[in-house]
Amino acid sequence: MEVLHIAEAKNNILKKGFLDIEINDASIDLFYEIERLKKEKNAVVLAHYYQEPDIQDVADFIGDSLGLAQEAEKTKAEIIVFAGVHFMAETAKILNPNKKVLLPDLNAGCSLADSAPASLFKAFKEKYPDHIVISYINCSAEIKALSDIICTSSNAEKIIESVPKEQKIIFAPDKNLGAYLKKKTGRDMVLWNGACMVHEIFSLEKITKLKMRHPNAKLIAHPECEEPILRLADFIGSTTGLLKYTQKDDAREYIVATETGILHQMQLSSPEKTFIPAPPDNSCACNDCPHMKLNTLEKLYICMEYEMPEIAMEKTLLDAARKPIERMLEISARYSL
Ligand code: 13P
Ligand code: SF4
Repeated sequence: MEVLHIAEAKNNILKKGFLDIEINDASIDLFYEIERLKKEKNAVVLAHYYQEPDIQDVADFIGDSLGLAQEAEKTKAEIIVFAGVHFMAETAKILNPNKKVLLPDLNAGCSLADSAPASLFKAFKEKYPDHIVISYINCSAEIKALSDIICTSSNAEKIIESVPKEQKIIFAPDKNLGAYLKKKTGRDMVLWNGACMVHEIFSLEKITKLKMRHPNAKLIAHPECEEPILRLADFIGSTTGLLKYTQKDDAREYIVATETGILHQMQLSSPEKTFIPAPPDNSCACNDCPHMKLNTLEKLYICMEYEMPEIAMEKTLLDAARKPIERMLEISARYSL
């Protein structure tokens, strides 16, 4: 991996992108510089809970996918710097077509979004002409444009319940969240066969053993996890839902079955409690999203300094993808979500 001085980084990024660059420059206080750039450029930094702790610490707003979309919709800043993955920055751009939206690393994708290529999904949708499409926000703008309503893990239940009972539904792209929602809502939805690489690899066996070693620990899980893990869970919720649960609940120990980034906020708001990352089915002790973790504090600084990489999309796609997102935001506001 190339290690570059910060002044050399811009040329390299223009030529090769961000992959395999490590910036090492002790003369720069990145926290100070990022704060300075925010003010100078009227920029806001929005970060998902799965970002590394340093990025969460410099962010103006930290949230789950719904909170971040809501914040992106209402921000007055001229530049939105999205510390998250590509579909999240795309959503911010769709809601703010005239603003500059930056993503520290353009390669920060999402295995779940990638599991639904638009051409295949279009053909799948044509097989069910009397169904409407509810898509999880973790999908590309092209899939959003093919959808009737978008949802996130925070509002999916309410979004589905807002649709008349007799209306048939395709749910995409996450089959695990879809199966969980079918049970919760009693709706017989057709599911797209996609999944998240992070939430799919938790080990039931290792979690069961961990629970035996920590009999008072509660297992809390994201609904993108597979059914056997969800069956064992004491609480299931979006990242914001899980965080709020640990703030209100009176247990002292939690096994957390989602990406490890969320532990930073859990530990900050409940320093007296113990949070144990649920182990995946490989040799690692915790479970990082390789896409989310492509963003670093150095890349965040460089992207603010040089105002790139920027999210760019065709107007027709922006307009088509906006409608189902706006429907989601309207329904969420109706339920104060
Ligand atoms: P939420 O932000 O809705 O909790 O979803 C988690 C996730 O996987 C984001 O990529
Ligand atoms: Fe995508 Fe899963 Fe990573 Fe979220 S955690 S960005 S759903 S791969």
